[in-house]
Amino acid sequence: MWLSVQLVLWVIWVRMSATSELRSHKITNVSDVIQSVPGRTKRSVFSTQVQQDILDLHNRMRRMEGSSDMNVLTWNTELTVMAEEWAERCYWGHGQPSRTNPPFKHIGQNLYAYTGHFDPLNGLHAFYDEKPFYDYDTGACSKYPCGHYTQVVWADTKEVGCAYSNCPNLDNTNLGAASYLVCNYGPAGNWGGQKPYLQGEACSECSSGVGWCENGLCSDTCKKETSKCECRQKCHNCGTVILSNCTCSCAEGWLGVDCSVPCENTHKFCGAEPGWPEFWCNKDFVREKCPLMCGICKESTTICSSSPIQKSSSIATAAISGIILAILLH
Ligand SMILES: *[C@@H]1O[C@H](CO)[C@@H](O)[C@H](O)[C@H]1NC(C)=O
Ligand SMILES: *[C@@H]1O[C@H](CO)[C@@H](O)[C@H](O)[C@H]1NC(C)=O
Repeated sequence: MWLSVQLVLWVIWVRMSATSELRSHKITNVSDVIQSVPGRTKRSVFSTQVQQDILDLHNRMRRMEGSSDMNVLTWNTELTVMAEEWAERCYWGHGQPSRTNPPFKHIGQNLYAYTGHFDPLNGLHAFYDEKPFYDYDTGACSKYPCGHYTQVVWADTKEVGCAYSNCPNLDNTNLGAASYLVCNYGPAGNWGGQKPYLQGEACSECSSGVGWCENGLCSDTCKKETSKCECRQKCHNCGTVILSNCTCSCAEGWLGVDCSVPCENTHKFCGAEPGWPEFWCNKDFVREKCPLMCGICKESTTICSSSPIQKSSSIATAAISGIILAILLH
């Protein structure tokens, strides 16, 4: 009696665990376009609620990274329809259906296939579970792949669209009946030699240059303080935040969106002879390189902290480590 119960349980366990999982990721572009290949399944569309759940989970994962420039993701219907058209072909491989005006020039794509009970959020967890194998400092991946995770938390990516198909069999694999999840990301992440995001205080280094923050993620749609939108702009070197538009008013001697650029001539030709005389200050490149000579700003006369924060030097360091990283990756 007990033996047979155990046997049944064992059989159930074996059957339940005999599932297969596949993942793949890539930056897709025009050369990946496949002309009208007919779909093999009836198109499956996530309900609005499931789309919201997928979007929310993406943003929750992005929030957990401790990043200073992470954009909030929004749902993109066109990326979703492209994912639907791709998934319904039941072909395991990257690509996009043909479009005359694709929503992004480069679209990141994460694929996931599973032969057991399908929950799209499990697919997303499978992507994010690569995180422990990714070394933020070196960009190394100790257990390949890490690219699904880095696409999910790529700071510059702003929009996502996911869809799925129930495939009777998945071409280009030996899987039988499988659920096939396709997620498209724009703009694409995973550019070689780049870090997925900057580490730091939430919304303190948004790519927009302005610190509008939606629940800890950089937002382009925020225009004023509301229950959803918070200004997290940081202004260095005695600069103050103008709350009405979330920008910095810099103290004398400092420039840049966060007042971290010192007012100084940065080119050896500024005011030199031969070089760029002061009356050339009507030229944009001279104004940009010689702000002090052109009177755009004045030298700082006050000291507001023992160690002024200068962005230019830290950018230079980041660029150098980026080059080292690129060499390591090749
Ligand atoms: C498109 O991607 C392929 C490889 O996937 C690459 O060789 C090619 O340079 C890319 N084209 C553009 C325009 O980025
Ligand atoms: C922000 O507001 C201040 C004060 O009203 C104004 O001087 C400044 O030009 C504005 N900045 C931008 C980028 O709109």
